[in-house]
Amino acid sequence: MDERKGRLTRDGIRIHEAADFAGMRAAGAAAAAILDDIGQHVLVGQSTAEIDRIITQMVHDRGLTSATIGYRGYRHASCISVNHVVCHGIPGDKVLKDGDILNIDVTVILDGWYGDTSRMFVAGTLGRKAARLIEVTHDALMAGIEAARPGNTFGDIGHAIQTFVEAQRMSVVRDFCGHGLGRVFHAPPNVLHYGRKGTGPLLEEGMFFTIEPMVNLGRPETKVLADDWTAVTRDKSLSAQFEHAIGITATGAEIFTLSPADRFYPADLRPA
Ligand code: MF3
Ligand code: CO
Ligand code: CO
Repeated sequence: MDERKGRLTRDGIRIHEAADFAGMRAAGAAAAAILDDIGQHVLVGQSTAEIDRIITQMVHDRGLTSATIGYRGYRHASCISVNHVVCHGIPGDKVLKDGDILNIDVTVILDGWYGDTSRMFVAGTLGRKAARLIEVTHDALMAGIEAARPGNTFGDIGHAIQTFVEAQRMSVVRDFCGHGLGRVFHAPPNVLHYGRKGTGPLLEEGMFFTIEPMVNLGRPETKVLADDWTAVTRDKSLSAQFEHAIGITATGAEIFTLSPADRFYPADLRPA
């Protein structure tokens, strides 16, 4: 029996066993494969409800379970966040226009393990400012993952993301964060996308969590719409997000949600 089995840190963060990585890898790949396959359906004139309907069908056809349908009353297999929507966009009758940018976030359950990932897409032709925002957001996530290794802290991850984004004169959203996950959707800790070096819990082998920075072209403040769900930028500036689920290894991090077809970035984003 692995001595790490079932251990929680004093911050309530679960330390998983070596065998658990395989479960997360399979669930993460399943979620990422859905995003790989939805790109061809992100088209001018398409509604976000139709994209979600196709995702729901894919989840079902692949023998997966949606983690979001029924979660806190949510009724969809994805969140689709267009333009100034920061996160938690609800699929609906909104029809995509040329140049719209959107984050599609899918979480599935496979053999009890949660795979949670999101990435950016464009309908039609990608504008220059949007392309730059999306590039910076992707690279900020990867800078955060680079900082994810034993001996570093969660603050080191946030610091890496924040300093990278702010050096590009863009802003990091403070109101939403990444999260622990595993056999549950959301668990400690809150993974902040800003912070100071050396602060927060120490990273340990066996921790599983997401990093999912939201970056705005304008100010960082958000507000939640009257639907009590959709978060938008207060200043209506464009917002982008990428999300990976990772596991801390002896020497660094394993990305569980790697795209099987290598389409995470920038496959579905062709600049003008
Ligand atoms: N997948 C989102 C996350 O990254 C959570 C969506 S919850 C939902 O944590 F209910 F809005 F779908
Ligand atoms: Co998440
Ligand atoms: Co997600």
